[in-house]
Amino acid sequence: MNLSRDLAQTREFFTSRAEGWEDRHPDDDVLFSWAVDQLRLSPGDAVIDAGCGSGRALVPLRGAVGPQGAVLGIDATPAMIREAARLGRQSISVCAVGDVGRLPLRDNCVAGILAAGLLPHLPDPVGALREMARVAQPGARLGVFHPIGRLALVARHQSRGAHAHDMNIDPHRIGPLLAEGGWTLEHLDDADDHYLALGMRNG
Ligand SMILES: C[S@@+](CC[C@H](N)C(=O)[O-])C[C@H]1O[C@@H](n2cnc3c(N)ncnc32)[C@H](O)[C@@H]1O
Repeated sequence: MNLSRDLAQTREFFTSRAEGWEDRHPDDDVLFSWAVDQLRLSPGDAVIDAGCGSGRALVPLRGAVGPQGAVLGIDATPAMIREAARLGRQSISVCAVGDVGRLPLRDNCVAGILAAGLLPHLPDPVGALREMARVAQPGARLGVFHPIGRLALVARHQSRGAHAHDMNIDPHRIGPLLAEGGWTLEHLDDADDHYLALGMRNG
């Protein structure tokens, strides 16, 4: 597996889509807020938006942890981080270009991680899940989230020629995948209009 080639393909795919990313699905904010609620964060917590894109989830994440909390958005595509900056998301969080497989954080420091739209774009999901588990406190929650139903997402990826690993969120695969990565699947919501696999960091 050539990870750097995969990351280069991911960047190429998302660079051309970064500008106006949120304009294409303007009604998704309610689902993002709901997904953040499922992480059961507390004021003062530290959280990550893994594969943050334009930083849409950074707004409810900041709301959940309050002014004393710490919010990091990390994304591999520089154009997405520029879009986040254009939308003012750097005033409520730290937004950085980076790989979720190599997080610039110490062990056991975050209380929650949202991974929205991310897992199908990871060629090594177990490696990334392990890295996220490394920085998560025992009992921290990980939300593998999509504001669209799984089957519709697969169809969207196919129609756009995305280099996607949709098997990563298959209902039969997600539990074992999370377990290999250091998380216990607490709940799977594989609904027609959204997907949420909620994992808890093993203690
Ligand atoms: C479908 S977009 C979702 C963006 C945002 N989370 C949202 O829901 O609007 C997937 C994002 O994951 C990012 N990504 C893919 N692989 C990544 C990696 N290894 N590390 C960090 N970000 C990655 C892409 O650059 C892209 O912005």
